[in-house]
Amino acid sequence: MDVARFSVTMVIPTPILILGAKGMLGHALMDTFADLAPTGLDRDELDITNSIEVDAKFSLLTPKTIINAAAFTAVDQCENEATKPICDKVNGEAVGILAEAAKRISATIIHFSTDYVFDGTKQEGYLETDEPKNPVNAYGASKLAGEQALRSSGANFYLIRTAWLYGAYGKNFVDTMLSLGKTKKELTVVNDQHGKPTYTVDLAKATRRLLEGEYTPGVYHFVNEEATTWYDFAVEIFKQAKIPMQVHPIPSSDFLRPAKRPAYSILLNTKFPPLRPWKEALAEYLQPIIQNQDLAPLDPNLL
Ligand SMILES: NC(=O)c1ccc[n+]([C@@H]2O[C@H](COP(=O)([O-])OP(=O)(O)OC[C@H]3O[C@@H](n4cnc5c(N)ncnc54)[C@H](OP(=O)(O)O)[C@@H]3O)[C@@H](O)[C@H]2O)c1
Repeated sequence: MDVARFSVTMVIPTPILILGAKGMLGHALMDTFADLAPTGLDRDELDITNSIEVDAKFSLLTPKTIINAAAFTAVDQCENEATKPICDKVNGEAVGILAEAAKRISATIIHFSTDYVFDGTKQEGYLETDEPKNPVNAYGASKLAGEQALRSSGANFYLIRTAWLYGAYGKNFVDTMLSLGKTKKELTVVNDQHGKPTYTVDLAKATRRLLEGEYTPGVYHFVNEEATTWYDFAVEIFKQAKIPMQVHPIPSSDFLRPAKRPAYSILLNTKFPPLRPWKEALAEYLQPIIQNQDLAPLDPNLL
């Protein structure tokens, strides 16, 4: 006799509120949860650093599930004396404001953090149970402060760390490479930083599966599978997009930026079914872009 197989699907508590709804991940979340009619807010409608506004909005909307994709993501600007206080407030303090307000209305909060909370020295990658310490830049430190505020709030939370995001409606490495491909024939890209490029659509869908499954609240690592370097990522983008480009590997020491980047920011997902490999996800993201582009003919010698 066949054994019946059951998969448990929990009903996601509604109303759902998505913060940072106009950002790169926020757009993907709004699409992925569209059938549940989420309310999406961004900075112009709710400043998450303002605790009075947050409490007022939560009282009005009474969300049961709050998904926070709002953040200050300009990594280099977090090093700047003028903008660092904003970075600290949005990525750190505001997470505490949201989590405490969520607790007051008995809502679950889902918050996104980053591989940059780790120092990047663990070559084999970081587990969900690894304790983040000594982030190498101010953005990582601000996101770690946010993680700590979330944990100490007493709210029911899912903390999802992710990395190297790309998708529609946001500044990202893939789009930068594609636009450089329109004007350049040669590029240098760093090949000593390792990570897992992650497609916002895959991350949003995994977030939904997390909430629908019987997963315990806590820390999760959601990244597309297989690690790479920025150099190999760039080579693959040009290859898939059929753009002729000579990409030359360089060390990070030849590409100095205000914020240092961790050498190994490889997140290991040991608690959730793996997301697909990054090259497959990239192909899906590039497909409509390639179809709409007038691309130069491919010279196989350049790839
Ligand atoms: N991008 C990556 O490579 C990456 C990697 C790892 C983790 N993450 C994390 O993933 C999450 C989503 O990132 P993303 O790349 O989608 O970010 P994003 O595109 O920069 O979107 C963030 C959104 O938050 C809004 N925001 C900023 N300050 C705010 C405030 N005070 N109140 C309300 N909204 C505010 C921004 O509005 P404005 O544009 O008007 O400022 C923007 O719409 C973040 O938690 C980020 O730290 C990102």
